[in-house]
Amino acid sequence: MDLGLRNKVVIVAGSSKGLGFATAKVLLEEGAHVVISSRDAGNLQKAAEKLGSPENLLTVQADVTKKEDCDRLVQETLAAFNALDILIANCGGPAPGNFEGLTDEQWDQAIDKSFKSNLYLIRAALPHLKKSKTPSILTVTSFTTKQPLPNMILSNSVRSATIGLTKSLSFELGQYNIRVNSILPGWTLTDRVDALLTNRAEIHNSSYEQEKAEIAADIPLQRMGDPIEFGRAAAFLVSPAASFVNGVMLNVDGGIYKGIY
Ligand SMILES: NC(=O)c1ccc[n+]([C@@H]2O[C@H](COP(=O)([O-])OP(=O)(O)OC[C@H]3O[C@@H](n4cnc5c(N)ncnc54)[C@H](OP(=O)(O)O)[C@@H]3O)[C@@H](O)[C@H]2O)c1
Repeated sequence: MDLGLRNKVVIVAGSSKGLGFATAKVLLEEGAHVVISSRDAGNLQKAAEKLGSPENLLTVQADVTKKEDCDRLVQETLAAFNALDILIANCGGPAPGNFEGLTDEQWDQAIDKSFKSNLYLIRAALPHLKKSKTPSILTVTSFTTKQPLPNMILSNSVRSATIGLTKSLSFELGQYNIRVNSILPGWTLTDRVDALLTNRAEIHNSSYEQEKAEIAADIPLQRMGDPIEFGRAAAFLVSPAASFVNGVMLNVDGGIYKGIY
């Protein structure tokens, strides 16, 4: 099946590593013009090298918790590729922790990362997406919005606002043919998950490998995900091949979410 991504212009925010990076890789293989972006210029340069620095790749340093950086990310995309078809709103995740251990500052940071970054990116992209023939927006949330995880109260709480935003925008923006969906990833082996497993091992006085095995045992597929598995699902959802898929919250989690709906 041709996903129809050839020559489409895609911004993938938070993409020097992890899920964003894997998604950019798939999109480049599909012939899209891809903008990768993150806070750290060194990380971005390494990512571009890993992707083979093709002509259809642009790197833009931007912190998506800052409105002005989101505006500039979109402007630099337009300057390079003269259009914008697809926005993948992604950012690093919030800190682990429980209610009694977290400060107001950490709550504010979580709101900036996991909610407001989406507002800033979507606002900046919207006028240009309206001009595309095949526009779409993807937010990246978590399966924990359906099945909260212990010691992850920031993620469990704040990301639900992004789910509400995603669904609401799928109603509001349908009139412009803009599809808006979210992926709810489950445990997928990235730097973030490495850090979370190390944190759990410290809390439980166990080891990284023990924590990983325990979580894997709770996943019906008996393993954690590979970022490329997220990347392939994301590429399909944002592509013209998914032209009637709108307002969907798609778990990509190996089946760890235990509910039916
Ligand atoms: N992996 C999982 O199992 C999983 C499960 C559920 C939800 N999620 C969520 O999915 C998202 C991506 O996860 P991941 O595992 O790929 O995370 P990751 O390994 O920590 O990678 C995060 C990426 O975002 C960039 N980034 C971080 N903060 C940023 C900011 N303020 N502005 C712009 N870029 C920023 C990082 O690059 P720089 O450091 O260079 O800025 C990096 O490229 C996160 O929100 C995460 O919580 C992941």
